[in-house]
Amino acid sequence: MTDPGVISSSIDEAGRRLIAGGLVAVPTETVYGLAANAEDGAAVKRIFEVKGRPHDHPLIVHLADGSLIDDGWVGQVSTELRALAATCWPGPLTVLVPRGERVIDEVTGKRPSVGLRVPSHPLTRTLLTTYRIAVAAPSANRFGKVSPTTAAHVYDDLGAVLDPEQDLILDGGPAEIGVESTIVDLTTPTPQILRAGAITADDIAEIIQRSVDNGSGPSRAAGMLTSHYTPDCDIWLAPDRSTAEGWAELARNRGWSIDVLDRTDDLVDAAHRLYADLRAADARDLDILVVVTPPPSGLGIALGDRLAKAAAIVSLRPPA
Ligand code: TXA
Ligand code: MG
Repeated sequence: MTDPGVISSSIDEAGRRLIAGGLVAVPTETVYGLAANAEDGAAVKRIFEVKGRPHDHPLIVHLADGSLIDDGWVGQVSTELRALAATCWPGPLTVLVPRGERVIDEVTGKRPSVGLRVPSHPLTRTLLTTYRIAVAAPSANRFGKVSPTTAAHVYDDLGAVLDPEQDLILDGGPAEIGVESTIVDLTTPTPQILRAGAITADDIAEIIQRSVDNGSGPSRAAGMLTSHYTPDCDIWLAPDRSTAEGWAELARNRGWSIDVLDRTDDLVDAAHRLYADLRAADARDLDILVVVTPPPSGLGIALGDRLAKAAAIVSLRPPA
């Protein structure tokens, strides 16, 4: 299944390919990203082609180190940005800030803001530090599908469209956290959470010593369609285990293939496995996966957000 020509754990090979204008799928602590040199417009454009993603959906720029906020990536560095960079990076937080002169239009879709983060995965940090490169990277999945948390997921999604002559999948093992970074918009009068992640609105409010709008409802970052994280099977969200089992029994009686997923007892593990669980449901050709809804606190907020999106479009309905 895996093609040794495209999957590698060589940081040097990855660095050479990025410098030469290729695409490298990189491991991060959240999910794998499909990276290009953030200052190479032609390479960045290819990301959109390979993913099938609309060109106006902006990309996050991944920096080697928080000190680079003073190196042309940010238009104006606020005290809040400094506090968040010092406390949360490297880590699963993306900040939206006024763009600096090094940020190219291909990355932001011509927006005045840029999303920045410093990922913590050791392979990718070493890659960015050694090659002194910043990379623009969305999650390394086909547009609209669930994010990849292993190199094999990336290969399943993009192996056929990556060019083995110039691109690479850098294998850094399974992503530790498993859901995408928190996105906080620092360009609005009150900082706003645009996408929930492992770092919560309360964490951020405590760091910057002011209130944060935690944006109830689905993620609002640009291009975050409600149907963004969709497996092929239908996802039904059940309020509790016994409701889930009841739905499953009724659905089985109708001849549908269905299973129940309940990881509410360990939310860290639930996040770590979420996208692999959704991919496994598709690999098993399930019609429906019933997921017991996690409690809405801590990581449960991010999990609930991704699950609500995965459940947004269904062809079969839970029994009334
Ligand atoms: O954990 C993550 O954030 C992963 C890893 C690879 O770092 N990346 C990721 O990227 O999830 P992506 O492109 O799949 O999701 C980023 C979201 C997109 O909805 C994008 O439109 C939004 O952030 N975004 C990025 N830059 C933005 C900007 N300047 N203004 C508004 N939204 C922005
Ligand atoms: Mg994505």
